[in-house]
Amino acid sequence: MTGTHPPHVGIDAMAFHGPEHYVDMSDLARARGVDPGKFLQGLGQRQMAVPTPCEDTVSMAAAAGRRALRGFDIDPAEIGMLIVGTETGVDHSKPVAVYVHDLLGLSERCRTFETKHACYGAMAGLTAAVDWIAAGRARGRKALIIASDIARYGVGTAGEPTQGAGAVAMVISAAPRLLALDADAAGDYTRQVMDFWRPLYSKYALADGHYSIACYLDALSGALADARDKCGAPERLALASMRACFYHVPFVKMARKAHHRHWEAELGRAIAPGDAAAAAVAASYESRVAPWLDLNAVVGNIYTGSLFLALIDYLRRLDPVDPPAGDLPVSLFSYGSGCGAAFCLGRVQAGAARYAARLDPQPALARRRKLDVPAYEAMLAACEAADESDHAVADPDAWQLEGDFFYVGTRDHVRRYRGGTR
Ligand code: CAA
Repeated sequence: MTGTHPPHVGIDAMAFHGPEHYVDMSDLARARGVDPGKFLQGLGQRQMAVPTPCEDTVSMAAAAGRRALRGFDIDPAEIGMLIVGTETGVDHSKPVAVYVHDLLGLSERCRTFETKHACYGAMAGLTAAVDWIAAGRARGRKALIIASDIARYGVGTAGEPTQGAGAVAMVISAAPRLLALDADAAGDYTRQVMDFWRPLYSKYALADGHYSIACYLDALSGALADARDKCGAPERLALASMRACFYHVPFVKMARKAHHRHWEAELGRAIAPGDAAAAAVAASYESRVAPWLDLNAVVGNIYTGSLFLALIDYLRRLDPVDPPAGDLPVSLFSYGSGCGAAFCLGRVQAGAARYAARLDPQPALARRRKLDVPAYEAMLAACEAADESDHAVADPDAWQLEGDFFYVGTRDHVRRYRGGTR
């Protein structure tokens, strides 16, 4: 994003869609012989979404996309750009986005592609869409950006309690109803590190877990430094003026670590336990970050959508009867392992509270069905072979799935989907 953008390009509509099953983190801890406190308090996770073989990156993206369009009364014909950010694509060549384009019945006159940079992919797409609109190339049309991922580390790994799955769709426009992005207060960061990756031959991510946390925090410092240098008026980035701070949330505790580092970067020094600033930082976390991490705590890591799931959690809580006055400044930080990161400011639009109920995924989350640990492990095993050609048909009815779009198996090397326009 550059300083030439009109001030109001931003997020006009949002929606989340996730799997219809979950596993309880206490059950998972007990099955792994771990004190539940480690997963519940140590990582901050309460439940973890578990997809069936019929719920893949495409089907979740299409469901979230349709919900964002319908929920905010946007005609699919208004979409001139579709980007799906994902690190769990379904083909080495063909983008998830083109399947989604078909399932949503979008216009052929649409720029459509997939972005990949671990959990930063959707933020990269969002930035491209903002630039597209600001450059005047959209000709009045909107962009649909969808983050969709399935986080899998495998049974018994250190990463297992930080799995999850889901998709967040966002419509970007020049007259956003939810969040305007401040193009002048943004920073970027890139560095080659091997903290988390997924080789071509593996369905499961590999991670150097503790190193990945350090890389995330260094990337936050780097992106903030870039934003400060570019912004011209660093006081605009001051944490004290932020209404809320949103971070990439691989697990809830990570947001606490990030907010701590955010304050350290602002003060220009480390804040050790017992430091005079430590209590203020903890209070700032409780008021600016913690209240909107409930969805992340029950969905788990959704990789590139995690940051935006926290934003949905914030927006769904705005009070439509007594909405907060004026535009509210917030910060967003996206981290993608490998690594790339971006920091930017946004302003929650004065009328955003009117849409709180439309983007609240809580009713759907409340309908999810709980799996015991053997059933969750069986589900992971069932997903193992689901991408193979001419394997048994993936049948959504076998799991009583209620959603709109499903992967139903690969025939003659071609993936098949059910639902939507065809
Ligand atoms: N009660 C309460 N807390 C407990 C506890 C108990 N009984 N036992 C342990 N804890 C606490 C620990 O003190 C620790 O807290 P702090 O970090 O505040 O010290 C926390 O629980 C986790 O304990 P460990 O560090 O011992 O856990 P671990 O070594 O098993 O692994 C992990 C944790 C590294 C996050 C691992 O789950 C992992 O590798 N996850 C995948 C990688 C990842 O998510 N990285 C995040 C940054 S990279 C990124 O963001 C991109 C992305 O999406 C992947």
